[in-house]
Amino acid sequence: MRILVLGGGGREHALVWKLKQSPRVEKIWCAPGNGGIAADAECMAIDAGDVAAVVALAEKIQPDLTVVGPELPLVNGLTDAFRHQNWAVVGPSQKAAQLEGSKVFSKELLQRHRIPTARMYGAFDSPQEVYKALNSVKFPVVIKADGLCAGKGVFLAPDFAAAKDFVERAMEKNELGPGGNRILLEEALEGEELSFIILTDGKRYAPLVPTRDHKRVFDGNQGPNTGGMGAYSTDELLPERLRETVRSAIVEPTLQGLAADGIPYQGFLYIGLMLTKSGPKVLEFNCRLGDPEAQAILARIDFDLAEVLSDVGAGRLAPPKLCWKTDASACVVLTSGGYPGRFEAGKKIDGLTAAERITGVKVLHAGTKLAGSSVVTSGGRVLGVTAAAASLKAALASAYEAASKIHFEGMHYRKDIGAHATGLRAAGD
Ligand code: AMP
Ligand code: GLY
Repeated sequence: MRILVLGGGGREHALVWKLKQSPRVEKIWCAPGNGGIAADAECMAIDAGDVAAVVALAEKIQPDLTVVGPELPLVNGLTDAFRHQNWAVVGPSQKAAQLEGSKVFSKELLQRHRIPTARMYGAFDSPQEVYKALNSVKFPVVIKADGLCAGKGVFLAPDFAAAKDFVERAMEKNELGPGGNRILLEEALEGEELSFIILTDGKRYAPLVPTRDHKRVFDGNQGPNTGGMGAYSTDELLPERLRETVRSAIVEPTLQGLAADGIPYQGFLYIGLMLTKSGPKVLEFNCRLGDPEAQAILARIDFDLAEVLSDVGAGRLAPPKLCWKTDASACVVLTSGGYPGRFEAGKKIDGLTAAERITGVKVLHAGTKLAGSSVVTSGGRVLGVTAAAASLKAALASAYEAASKIHFEGMHYRKDIGAHATGLRAAGD
């Protein structure tokens, strides 16, 4: 098989890493890829979100399968263009990708099919309407920009003044871009978050192992939201009974609801859950694998990823093929100093070889590029130091030991990925 992977972050490096381990795979291209992916695939300097450019590339290289990593190509209609040519591709249609591309669309779907989610106060097209609605909501309130905002579109407002400030920035100063033109207000949920991601061919689906992301930049969940500072996976995140509830009350009604609405869904579907006192509720959908969740999930696979994704592309997913290692995994993200705000790039990265010598560790690249014989930083999230081991504690220890071998100027990472889970277990909870 010759496979094209679209994207250039840690999630795509994880996909390339596991696809390359398949004996069926003869060649992998990645567009655009990054400094680490370049060691495992042929990187093509093409913007994955540019549908016409990707179609032209695929015409030239004729991959047997294309796997889409990020949301932008999906929201821009890439898979529709591929299916029109009868090219095998993993990822939902443009219409189905609205689950991530429009929070109002996904909220309406949840409500229409009675899937548990936070109560919506309303969706508004003008700041005046939002200010008026803010007079009759309970604080804290969650404010969401309808469209894609690169992770900056959700704000938990403690009071009216903070809410007004966010709405002003989104709707009057256009700081979030067009994604912020429409605003949704919803009830704030309390509980532990969980990323539940499934793979579906439109008819059958298979859940991937559960993961937990750490969105805030600093330890103790302090500071601004990021794309994700680290993730871990262990089956203990989701006990069997809860898993059954998630499947019967959330996953199945969602897939059936989409099909009933005439929007079949194929690809990865990320369901962001809040485990509340009154049961699991949907926070958000993403039309793709999470990043860094993908790194933690793929570290645990015990199946041939190329075979399974090719099955999805052909509409014949066989869920029993998705076998998982019973162990745990962790991914610690190393970022440029200043991220998610302004940061400098071009810093030389040392210690990558020493880090990968640690048993069970794989360093997955995100914002890196090659500069001569060196690897240098080129983005906010730079590396995802990923480890699999027999227990979560051991996976975290290996990931942190590997992270301590790596250095670049300004490097930052959270020291408490998974600490809450291991702390609870140590306390016998
Ligand atoms: P995003 O990935 O940008 O859609 O942001 C989603 C994040 O916002 C989630 O991971 C939660 O931390 C938070 N969030 C979204 N909706 C709610 C809600 N109703 N209550 C509490 N937190 C929420
Ligand atoms: N890590 C969260 C996301 O990929 O959206």
